[in-house]
Amino acid sequence: MNRIVQGDNLNILQAMAAESVDLIYVDPPFNTGKRQARKQIKTIRDEAGDRVGFGGFRYRTEILEQQNGGQGYRDSFDDFLGFLRPRLVEAHRILSATGSLFFHIDYREVHYCKVMLDEIFGRECFQNEIIWAYDYGARATKRWPAKHDNILWYSKDPKQYTFNLNESDRIPYMAPGLVGAKKAARGKTPTDVWWHTIVSPTGKEKTGYATQKPLGILERIVRVHSNPNDTVLDFFAGSGTTGAAAAKHGRSFVMIDESATAVAVMEKRLVAFSPRREDSPPPAVRKPKRRAPASQRSRQ
Ligand SMILES: C[S@@+](CC[C@H](N)C(=O)[O-])C[C@H]1O[C@@H](n2cnc3c(N)ncnc32)[C@H](O)[C@@H]1O
Repeated sequence: MNRIVQGDNLNILQAMAAESVDLIYVDPPFNTGKRQARKQIKTIRDEAGDRVGFGGFRYRTEILEQQNGGQGYRDSFDDFLGFLRPRLVEAHRILSATGSLFFHIDYREVHYCKVMLDEIFGRECFQNEIIWAYDYGARATKRWPAKHDNILWYSKDPKQYTFNLNESDRIPYMAPGLVGAKKAARGKTPTDVWWHTIVSPTGKEKTGYATQKPLGILERIVRVHSNPNDTVLDFFAGSGTTGAAAAKHGRSFVMIDESATAVAVMEKRLVAFSPRREDSPPPAVRKPKRRAPASQRSRQ
């Protein structure tokens, strides 16, 4: 069954059964210190505008749409690892015996997160650090432009895990002339460096959700690291890219996000797969007070 759940992921993960999902991908907030919100603007010719633009005319800028009323989601934590740790402990508990976690982060935090995940999963369960390399946007001129994200792969068991390499898409050889025509036409399997463009701001994949990740990256993870009918979980789901990849390849999905905007985007994006919409489970029911022994109870 496909599910979209709204709420703080910690409560929801705690309510999930042990070993109940086969693959987890998460792309938590990166602790950039910014608020992540997508703004759409329009420039209008206006004699009283504050900018001089094309043809020497004056222009003003109007904001057409702001995600979450301009608030987006918080991407700054006093204690980033303290926030992540209990969630990743739960992730480890609910992964099946042959399951894997894919943890997507950026170069500023990856080393701290790797040490923490080594503690939770065991160093022997660390399989790869995948570098997702892209080349888009402004280029720094005072240092090398940072154009990659890091994806850490941990298996629950170091010896037994789903890895269907033959299910991977294939990529072109760098020097096709050095291999035969047949091999060149077939391409090769990827390494741990994945070149993939970002979601095009004007392409049809775009949902409008800030920080949306490319479907191609998630499809590769889903195809290689899970089997048809498996359950795939993303508990920082955003626009639901993981759910879209899972459903496209015949897996079930559980998508969790606390943001109403994210849930609305996912409901629209994943409607064809009839997800059940749920809210976070109510806080744990308080135990009823123990009745005082009969001898201490006042007589009526
Ligand atoms: C980087 S975005 C994920 C983007 C996603 N991979 C995609 O392709 O659209 C991180 C998401 O985590 C969500 N989030 C942050 N803290 C959360 C929490 N405690 N519980 C559930 N979701 C949370 C935010 O609302 C945001 O949508």
